[in-house]
Amino acid sequence: MKLTLHVWRQKSPAEAGSMVTYPLDGVSPDMSFLEMLDTLNETLIRKGEEPVAFDQDCREGICGSCSMMINGLAHGPERGCTTCQLHMRSFKDGDHVYVEPWRARAFPVLKDLVVDRSAFDRIIQSGGFVSVNTGGAPDGNTLPIPKVDQERAMDAAACIGCGACVAACPNASGMLFLAAKVGHLGAMPQGKTERHDRAKKMVAQHDREGFGHCTNINECEAACPKEISTQFIAQLNRDFAAGAVRALVK
Ligand code: SF4
Ligand code: FES
Repeated sequence: MKLTLHVWRQKSPAEAGSMVTYPLDGVSPDMSFLEMLDTLNETLIRKGEEPVAFDQDCREGICGSCSMMINGLAHGPERGCTTCQLHMRSFKDGDHVYVEPWRARAFPVLKDLVVDRSAFDRIIQSGGFVSVNTGGAPDGNTLPIPKVDQERAMDAAACIGCGACVAACPNASGMLFLAAKVGHLGAMPQGKTERHDRAKKMVAQHDREGFGHCTNINECEAACPKEISTQFIAQLNRDFAAGAVRALVK
């Protein structure tokens, strides 16, 4: 296939960026999107030009690094799919493909398609600890967990912290990510003790980082490559309210 790529190029956070057009020939439909970018970069390096910077690591949909907007959609046109799992068969010969970094105040662009997502790390850190008994690892059967709770925790824990929910949200809200993190810890007995305080602290950090508020638009759920449900945001709101009431009566 022959494509025309329009890629956001930005040398540093301090410099202004712009879209640069690159024609690319010989794209196989079996390539992943990242392999296609590798091919572009090999072409640029051969010409003595700076390759396009982009984040990637696992290339199997589990690390959340390969974050980019493709034709205006977070992670591209396929639902429930990360950029590294997106294949060029989703595009047609002659297509124009627009590739940009996440756009959100809390995710400043570092270079080209790479943004700083450390705000997510600070939100997780602000949640603090979970109460566990120290000592030897207890037998798994001494802590029975209802299957429904275990399934719910696993659904939330599927979040890979990619930030697509923020990039897709008109408010640049990080609530789906935050709700997934609060949700998986709160569903398990080890995480229940601090559940309400954790929700309060993590929401406060989310707001300090400059993410917007959730107004139930649901773009986050549509863009999420792990299809995390916005029901976790509803649960987060309940946990937050309980945390606020507990703080008042303390
Ligand atoms: S909730 Fe989904 S879109 Fe948001 S960070 Fe987690 S995996 Fe990515
Ligand atoms: S490179 Fe790890 S999820 Fe895409």
